[in-house]
Amino acid sequence: MRGIEHIPWLYDALMSAMDVTGFSRWRRKLVGTVENRILEVGCGTGRNLPLYPPGSEVVALDPDFAALRRARRRSPGTLLVVARAEAMPFPADHFQTVVSGLVFCSVQDPAAGLAEIGRVLHPEGQLRMIEHVRHSHPTLARIQDGVQPMWTWVTGGCHPNRDTEAAVERAGFRIDPEDRVARGVMRRFSARLVKPRDPTR
Ligand SMILES: C[S@@+](CC[C@H](N)C(=O)[O-])C[C@H]1O[C@@H](n2cnc3c(N)ncnc32)[C@H](O)[C@@H]1O
Repeated sequence: MRGIEHIPWLYDALMSAMDVTGFSRWRRKLVGTVENRILEVGCGTGRNLPLYPPGSEVVALDPDFAALRRARRRSPGTLLVVARAEAMPFPADHFQTVVSGLVFCSVQDPAAGLAEIGRVLHPEGQLRMIEHVRHSHPTLARIQDGVQPMWTWVTGGCHPNRDTEAAVERAGFRIDPEDRVARGVMRRFSARLVKPRDPTR
């Protein structure tokens, strides 16, 4: 069975319901203050693409070809690339902004994906993310651990129990406390590189 993330019409139907309950405002904030050139990692069916400010130069990638076909219909002018966050076909320092929404719960190797973002992002560039994360209450985090295998199977990759903010900081970014919103397990934040990059990457 394919998971929800790999059934574009079903993913979009569920996301439309989430968007009307207020998530579309989070999406608009995610892409509202971006600087060219922009990379969206894990764009899926392209729900963020029409929300970028006019004149934005966006390249968007996702490993799921069926999702990208929907993204193409939503945003015919965007350059779409079939690729994974862990191995991106772009030169170092190429992008001024990297955007990622609800993706690092699903990326198979988050540390490798975040290291790649650190490579393709200009040293003064900005990473902008929305993620749902591991619950801060230990009991609720253990429940997330318990449901994770079934959840990952049903969704097609999502891990509800990842501490993605900690992973972002381990990858050499500093999260801006002035630009961080936390509601339950949902997070929206921006981050910048603080550590010199490994020159061999
Ligand atoms: C929950 S969907 C989010 C889609 C879109 N960003 C949105 O906000 O609606 C997660 C997306 O991450 C993509 N994904 C999974 N593994 C990935 C990887 N290793 N690199 C990049 N994207 C990945 C999936 O194909 C899927 O489109």
